[in-house]
Amino acid sequence: MLACFCTSVSKAQERGRSKTVTSLTLHLEDTTREVSPMLYGLMTEEINHAYDGGIYAEIIRNRSFQDNEKSPDYWSLCLGENGQAAMILSREERLNEASKVALKLTVTSADSKGVGIANTGYWGVPVHPNTQYKGFFYAKTNAPGLHLFTVSIENDSTAPAVYASKKVSDSGAGWKKYEFTLKTTGDVPRTSDAKFIIRTAQTGTYWFSTCSLFPPTYNDRPNGNRPDIMQLLADMKPAFLRLPGGNFLEGGKFSTRYDWKKTLGPIENRPGHMGTWGYRSSDGMGLLDYLQWCEDLHCEPLLAVFAGYTLGGDHLEGQLLQPFIDEALEEIEYIIGDVHTKWGARRASDGHPAPFPLRYVEVGNEDFFDRSGSYNRRFAQFYNAIKQKYPQLTIISTFGKDFDVPGGKVDMIDDHFYRNAADFESSATYYDQYDRKGPKVLVGEWATREGSPTPNFNAALGDAAWLTGLERNSDVVLMSCYAPLFVNVNPGGMQWKSDLIGYNVLNSYGSPSYYVQRMFSNHLGNKVVPIDADTVMTQLEVLNEKDVAKGREARVLPTLFYVATRDAKSGHVYLKIVNTMSHEQLVKINLDGHGKIQSKGTKIVLKADAPSATNSIDDPTHIIPVRSEIKDVDKDFEQKLPAYSVSVIQLNIN
Ligand code: AHR
Repeated sequence: MLACFCTSVSKAQERGRSKTVTSLTLHLEDTTREVSPMLYGLMTEEINHAYDGGIYAEIIRNRSFQDNEKSPDYWSLCLGENGQAAMILSREERLNEASKVALKLTVTSADSKGVGIANTGYWGVPVHPNTQYKGFFYAKTNAPGLHLFTVSIENDSTAPAVYASKKVSDSGAGWKKYEFTLKTTGDVPRTSDAKFIIRTAQTGTYWFSTCSLFPPTYNDRPNGNRPDIMQLLADMKPAFLRLPGGNFLEGGKFSTRYDWKKTLGPIENRPGHMGTWGYRSSDGMGLLDYLQWCEDLHCEPLLAVFAGYTLGGDHLEGQLLQPFIDEALEEIEYIIGDVHTKWGARRASDGHPAPFPLRYVEVGNEDFFDRSGSYNRRFAQFYNAIKQKYPQLTIISTFGKDFDVPGGKVDMIDDHFYRNAADFESSATYYDQYDRKGPKVLVGEWATREGSPTPNFNAALGDAAWLTGLERNSDVVLMSCYAPLFVNVNPGGMQWKSDLIGYNVLNSYGSPSYYVQRMFSNHLGNKVVPIDADTVMTQLEVLNEKDVAKGREARVLPTLFYVATRDAKSGHVYLKIVNTMSHEQLVKINLDGHGKIQSKGTKIVLKADAPSATNSIDDPTHIIPVRSEIKDVDKDFEQKLPAYSVSVIQLNIN
């Protein structure tokens, strides 16, 4: 029989329980199809409090008082027992150009404990025992003499408790930067029921500008990321990070696009901007911070450049587009230019003399929404300018399989899919038919959207089924990344369901879909092993009420999805099988064209009792992969696949 890269089902059996055994024959000697080493990556943008209130470890919310023009949101007065003070946003004193307002505090009476301003953080301030926090704030005052402040992290509810406290002082007129560290002892509780407070016991008028407080960060990076969330990402071993969006790249209008130049340098010099998803971005996660995030994960950036189209529907082309093309070229230079180039030198002065790796640049995001039809012209302008200066870069178009650019075909296209589990199960073979002469593919956003805030197990099954198709076709699907990556699970934190990783200020967790990604990306060979299947059971799709009302017919879906890859060097074969049925299935695995088979193998299984089962912030590890040994691997051997399960079977064959 000829080896087949498509999912091949010679007999299919409709619904219901039976003793059917599916045979999977792995053609190990067929090594014609390559697996892309870039297949599994990450996609990121500021959505669902992904950065502010997410991976970016800053604790102070509205740290530069610019979130709301009218009131200092997330800040309150601390008057103590006898204090009298008032606070307003003021434009009379400003730290710098980036800062449009300051918080003006007028203290008319204070007892020895002082009066001050308190910040509630992003749904709380994270208190951890034995922890050092680094912070600073800018203040200016007309009070005479030494300016003495007490900074503290204190309990936020009825029983007052000071978890950490420090005095800072300076003197003289003008803006002063007050830097401090706060340390908690071993006996403080682990809690988010806390506030950050700056107090003074001197009467007078004070103006405050950027206030910042960081807990320890991943790799101790200043202005860095939360270690727990970074560890979840590192465990996925991603090959790339698609940044900075998504719709966040485009903005609602030109002035709210991702303007990378305004995200560089000290955080007090970054004005921030109104993001796309209904809240302001501090831009603490700036371009260099993104790149260092990649460096910390040992992965490459996939840079999306603003392409002259906004979500509001405005676009520019021709000469009017040129400033944005220049901006993109400068952005690339910031990333890969050496220190003798203008923007390479700027990167060095920002603290990173070495260029970053960059091979992939995407022009825009989802430009099929641009109904003016200008994308092919805008794309060609960007493509030609970037290729002329950086011929080594792969340029990605946001749509269009047969999209031509002057002189040839587009290098790569970005396909997006947001679907339900049945949709993904029915289209797991989508790329089997893809024209191998067509452009390579980035599946730059995709997700089974079932479950909120994070996906449930049914979604994980849909994801896994879909991924078998991407992996089997990774000679053309070179890269893929799930979206959105993050969600702050607090009320009001989410704008888009279902998101891969959830968190609050203290804890984080991976959804079942997260574990599917992790299992798939950690067990990947460099050659696709063709599989022939015999007798895969099928079942009817369960329709939701809306579909029933519309009179939609239920589809017949396979119940097993599978893919295998082989690592030519190590001899590992990774067979991934998804069982979407509510009962166990037995599979017979035949190793065709095998070498020396080691009888011991490994099995990693992710399973759930019901499709609705899930992980949550309160039950973060309800569903996690379980590893076990298999002892009876042979030319033909059997494996039981639990109901609702995703299995990775690792065989060792030399
Ligand atoms: O992932 C959420 C959004 O979905 C992205 O910002 C956008 O590109 C897509 O429409």
